[in-house]
Amino acid sequence: MLVLGIETSCDETGLALYDSARGLRSHRLYSQVDLHADYGGVVPEIASRDHVRKLLPLAQACLDEAGVERSDIDGVAFTAGPGLIGALLVGAAVGRALALALGCPAVAVHHMEGHLLAPMLEAEPPAFPFVALLVSGGHSMLVEVTDIGRYRVLGETLDDAAGEAFDKTAKLLGLGYPGGPAISRLADEGDAGRFRFPRPMTDRPGLEFSFSGLKTHTRNLWLEHGGETSSDPSLRADIAAGFQQAVIDTMVIKCRRAMQQTGSGQLIVAGGVGANRGLRAALKAAGEKYGFLVSYPRLEFCTDNGAMIAYAGCQRLLAGASEELAIQAQARWSLESLRPPDEHREQRT
Ligand code: KG4
Ligand code: ZN
Repeated sequence: MLVLGIETSCDETGLALYDSARGLRSHRLYSQVDLHADYGGVVPEIASRDHVRKLLPLAQACLDEAGVERSDIDGVAFTAGPGLIGALLVGAAVGRALALALGCPAVAVHHMEGHLLAPMLEAEPPAFPFVALLVSGGHSMLVEVTDIGRYRVLGETLDDAAGEAFDKTAKLLGLGYPGGPAISRLADEGDAGRFRFPRPMTDRPGLEFSFSGLKTHTRNLWLEHGGETSSDPSLRADIAAGFQQAVIDTMVIKCRRAMQQTGSGQLIVAGGVGANRGLRAALKAAGEKYGFLVSYPRLEFCTDNGAMIAYAGCQRLLAGASEELAIQAQARWSLESLRPPDEHREQRT
């Protein structure tokens, strides 16, 4: 089954063709980051309008690269939430309309299910059951995954998502948007041990995260040392390194706890923050030390992309899932409300 995947939940237009027999055939990604950079964050209306411009040319580029015709498409998968509602509606409308025109089924995909299945696109995919650390711009959660569509959230963030904490800290330090990669680059030059940073929520049991205290601590430290007016050449890099290390340590502690609690031997890490090299190295080391396997999608499939949506949609379409003609999208959508593909209808709450 050849599935066209469409991702438009935020500021990336992602298209891909996934073939259940031959794997990923092609994918294209257009990042709107330059359009939003001047505003220091994503402007929803600009995002929606740009998805309109890019979707069909990128879909055609995927078809060309794979050497297939439109009529070869057997199903269309589109991200229906969670995300920016205007941006989601563009992908949902185009996806649903394309499927109607092609006479094939369409399926609405949960963006976070896409992220947590992204490691399945790799040559050695992890086996179910596993624990997933999902860390993106909008979410930080640990999820017990027993099968596709069987998800139990073990812990979530009480305030900011991990990526959001990176983005806000980068803004504070004048590093621009998106913050994660910028902090990560600067952290390589800094001394993570120069300042003391808290490891939030690690001194008590549980798998919840909280990053707002760490954010405030970082702001206070920056301002105490003069902020923008500081003449200390390494201040910015040392703060970036200390902040990043605090986030990494916190996640490693929580992941180890989740592995112990579930008795699972397989961790997967997905979502934009999963592209952080320091986090990947620290979790790999923890896995080796404590005896669990750690799998990631390749770097480009950690952040938003169409391939993960095509893959997740394909699994559901193979089981016979198909959407009504109505265009469906929702800004909020609980991961735990999903059902396995063979139970077809998902309840969206
Ligand atoms: O999954 P994603 O592309 O979009 C959402 O679904 O939110 O994640 C984007 C987030 C942003 O907050 C970005 O700053 C963060 O992932 N990010 C990183 C890195 N690359 C992207 N955070 C830390 N280190 C990175 N290398
Ligand atoms: Zn995402």
